[in-house]
Amino acid sequence: MFDAEEFIAESIESLKATIDDVAIIACSGGVDSTVAAVIANQAVGDLLHCVYVDTGFMRKNETEQIEALLEAQGINLVTVKAADRYFEALKGVTEPEQKRKVIGELFIRIFEDEQKKCGAKYLVQGTIAPDWIESGGGVRDTIKSHHNVGGLPEDMTLSVVEPLRDLYKDEVRELARTLDINVAERQPFPGPGLAVRTLGDLTPERVAVVREACAIVEEEFEAAAERGEMEIPWQYFAALLPVRSVGVHGDVRAYGETIVVRAVQSMDGMSARYSEIPHKILQKISTRITNTVKGAVNRVVYDITHKPPGTIEWE
Ligand code: XMP
Repeated sequence: MFDAEEFIAESIESLKATIDDVAIIACSGGVDSTVAAVIANQAVGDLLHCVYVDTGFMRKNETEQIEALLEAQGINLVTVKAADRYFEALKGVTEPEQKRKVIGELFIRIFEDEQKKCGAKYLVQGTIAPDWIESGGGVRDTIKSHHNVGGLPEDMTLSVVEPLRDLYKDEVRELARTLDINVAERQPFPGPGLAVRTLGDLTPERVAVVREACAIVEEEFEAAAERGEMEIPWQYFAALLPVRSVGVHGDVRAYGETIVVRAVQSMDGMSARYSEIPHKILQKISTRITNTVKGAVNRVVYDITHKPPGTIEWE
C-alpha cells in the first residue's frame, strides 16, 4: 500500500542529501513535474530554479494557469517564451520519433542556457515509471521516446535526479492531493504537448486548430459529466489529422482536414479502453469544432481503438 506522506518525507530527506548545489527543474504544469517541483522546493528551497518553457504547444490558457500555480507555491520561476524556436526547429519534421527527438533536444538546449544563467549542477525531473518503461528502459522495445527520456543528449553535464521514477500515475496524483496542489485530478498531457496531436506539418495555424478542438472536447465532456450524462474519461482530447476531405460550408465546396476525438479509460496509461461516449455529446462536439475552425476542418471522427493495439496519443 502506497503511503504518500511517508514517500514525501523520504523524498525530501533524500533530495536534501543529494542536492548540495543549485538545481534546476522543468515544470510543464502537469501532475508529474509539478509534484516533483513542489517536493524539491520543500527539500531545497532557494537552491531550486524552476523553468517553465512555453513551447507554443500548450493548451488554451495553460501558461497563465501554470505560472499562477507555481508562484502560489513560492517556487522560484522563470518562464521562457520559446514558441518561435520550436516552430523553426520543427519545420518539415513530421515523423513522430524525429519530432519527439527535436522537441526533446531543443528543450534540453533551452535548459542548458538557463542552467548556465543560474549555475545549476542538478536537473530534477518528474519522470515516472511508464515514461522509461515505454522508452525501452528494460526488456521492452521502444514504443515511443517519451519526452523526459528520449531527448536527453549524451553530452549533458547536469546530474539527473528523478524522485518519482518508480511511481505510477495514480500514486503521483495521491502525492498531489496530499501536498494540496490542485493538479491532482488533471488529466495527463504529453511532454511534447499539442505537437504530438498535430499530425503532419507543425505550423502555428494547425496547432491553433488543435488547441481550439482540445478546449471544446474538454469543455463539453466536463459539462456533460457535471450534468450526470457521462463519466469523465481518464484522458480526452482531439488530434488533427493531415487527411483532407470534401465538404460544404454554406454553398461553398470546402477541402478541410480531419479532427479525431480520443477518450479513454485507463489506470496508469499502460493499457486503455476507449470510452463509450453518448452520441449526443459527440455530435455537439463535432458541430462546435466545425463551426469554430471554419474551413480548416470539415470532418470529425471518434477513435474506437483500445490500447493495445493503439496507443493513447496518435504519435
Ligand atoms: P501513449 O500515447 O504512449 O501514452 O499510450 C501513454 C500516456 O502517456 C502520455 N504521454 C506522455 N507523457 N511525455 C509524457 O510525460 C511524453 O512524451 C508522452 N507521450 C505520451 C499520454 O498522454 C498518455 O497519458
